[in-house]
Amino acid sequence: TNDISILAIESSCDETSASIILNGKVLNNIVATQSVHEKYGGVVPELASRAHQENIIPVVHEALESSGIRKNDLSAIAFTRGPGLMGALLVGVSFAKSMAYALKIPLIEINHMQAHVLAHFIEDPKPNFPFICLTVSGGHTQLVLVKDYLDMQVIGETRDDAVGEAFDKTAKLLGLPYPGGPLIDKYAQSGNPKAFEFPITRMPELDYSFSGIKTAVLYFLRDQLQQNPTFIEENLNDLCASIQHSLIEMLLIKLKVAVKQYGVKDVAIAGGVSANSGLRNALTDLATKRGWNIFIPKFEYCTDNAAMIAMAAHYKYLKGDFSSMDVTPLAKMKI
Ligand code: KG4
Ligand code: ZN
Repeated sequence: TNDISILAIESSCDETSASIILNGKVLNNIVATQSVHEKYGGVVPELASRAHQENIIPVVHEALESSGIRKNDLSAIAFTRGPGLMGALLVGVSFAKSMAYALKIPLIEINHMQAHVLAHFIEDPKPNFPFICLTVSGGHTQLVLVKDYLDMQVIGETRDDAVGEAFDKTAKLLGLPYPGGPLIDKYAQSGNPKAFEFPITRMPELDYSFSGIKTAVLYFLRDQLQQNPTFIEENLNDLCASIQHSLIEMLLIKLKVAVKQYGVKDVAIAGGVSANSGLRNALTDLATKRGWNIFIPKFEYCTDNAAMIAMAAHYKYLKGDFSSMDVTPLAKMKI
């Protein structure tokens, strides 16, 4: 048949995911989340690889089963080549290679950061080119000028921690379990964002820095706890709201500059942190004030998932952009 059906695999960090896309339409998105990292307060690379090895066959099997597409009818196999954890990526890359080899079909490598942006094309409404996408996750913070499906330019990025990392690390200082981002979001909803003032780091041009806030929160808490050992418990909502407020401010200051500088009307956010309700609200207000059209994917497509890898793979398939069988994963990979 002339159908284009692609199996896509994502294994860059701590989610093992598989998705099937048929003629540009995502049929499913199977995700196995690894809970083994919780008690360590962060992703442990070695444990991530092991969990990927355990999860990958059942996840791929379920994606194929529920799509109703037989593996012999697949047109190509896609996988995340990078950026990500080397050992985690290796599991997906090796699996994709052997499957493509066995089925004698093309292999398509995908850049994880490009895929986060293309998550906006899984469902309607879709942004119009050119647009700016702020990709905010546990590993990355990037402002991307998106000129076409596969033509993107990073116009700003963090020089140290990712914003998700800042959420998680400050949450840890507050005694919250990993990943702390969603918990900060939750407590912030009942707190006063102006209760405490944390620094807004201003970097040159469109770049970001999120490592300063961690230190600021650390010293602030240390001083307060000396006077009142139950300071955190008594002020948890306000602390979360204030930290979140500073992080969102920093994100939006540069986004505003970028949108103006490049004269775009469509503005998108992607990555795990785009689930943050404070960020969503602030962005919605800003869009109303400035006449932007904003695009926020469904939560399922914000965090790491194979549907976005499948979407990216579809566009690469149309261009005939395939990989060779000796492709290797890249821990660091530019858009
Ligand atoms: O995209 P993602 O699932 O994985 C990476 O590629 O990193 O993003 C995970 C990050 C974590 O830092 C997590 O704390 C953060 O997204 N996150 C949030 C929220 N939901 C997830 N941060 C703030 N508020 C949320 N609601
Ligand atoms: Zn991601």
